[in-house]
Amino acid sequence: MNNNGKIGVFDSGIGGVTVLKEIVKILPNEDYIYYSDSKNNPYGDKTDTEIIKICDFIVKDLLDKECKIIVIACNTASARAVDYLRKKYKNINFIAIEPAYKMVHDYSFENPTLIMATKGTIESEKFNLLFHKYDNHKTYLLPCVGLADIIEKEDEKALEKYLEEYLEPYKGKVKDVVLGCTHYPLIKEQIQNVLGKVEFFEGSNRLAVHLKEVLEKENLLNKQKEKGSIKFIDSSNSELKEERFFKILNNYL
Ligand code: DGL
Repeated sequence: MNNNGKIGVFDSGIGGVTVLKEIVKILPNEDYIYYSDSKNNPYGDKTDTEIIKICDFIVKDLLDKECKIIVIACNTASARAVDYLRKKYKNINFIAIEPAYKMVHDYSFENPTLIMATKGTIESEKFNLLFHKYDNHKTYLLPCVGLADIIEKEDEKALEKYLEEYLEPYKGKVKDVVLGCTHYPLIKEQIQNVLGKVEFFEGSNRLAVHLKEVLEKENLLNKQKEKGSIKFIDSSNSELKEERFFKILNNYL
């Protein structure tokens, strides 16, 4: 591994852009490869074996493309596959996103909270350990089956219907919402349209700070003075995805 290597970032689609934008703000001089696995989206309802196989394939590809570190910008993949990946690729650091429930514990413990995530994340052992450690006993868990898929497909009508049906019961009941899937920060406005004003919690900024610390510690920071590059790969070769990805990223930056 050397300093000139790239930072590999992957998700089951374009949702991980909500993580990448925080990283780029903190580490602008790095070169990035973003892998959007839209061919296999959604991950949320897949088995461990399926997710591990998919992630293993992506990691191999990113390492072949000279990535020095891998960011798993998908809560479901982190929850289900990171232990396997860390055991298999011992020389590589994996930085994995997880639902920002510790943040609720640290900054907003008294508030009734809703955790939105995929079924795969909510049913995982990793998430359950986190949840029971920081449980404020005022938290609802909402497995949002199919939501990442709707966001990925940009289906505004289906989105509105989905949120009305699944979020309406929590209206007035919760003050905090943990966005436990990296696609969900893209629909904050639509969530507030149903729930009213709520405080959002997401882990991407914390992850970016941690990534920088790890690169510093491992002496892997890119020393180049100019701004780095961002290469986008989509597993179903969708040019539309690439366009949407950069549009969202540039809006954030
Ligand atoms: N962005 C992924 C996550 O954070 C979406 C999972 C899916 O594809 O269902 O969990």
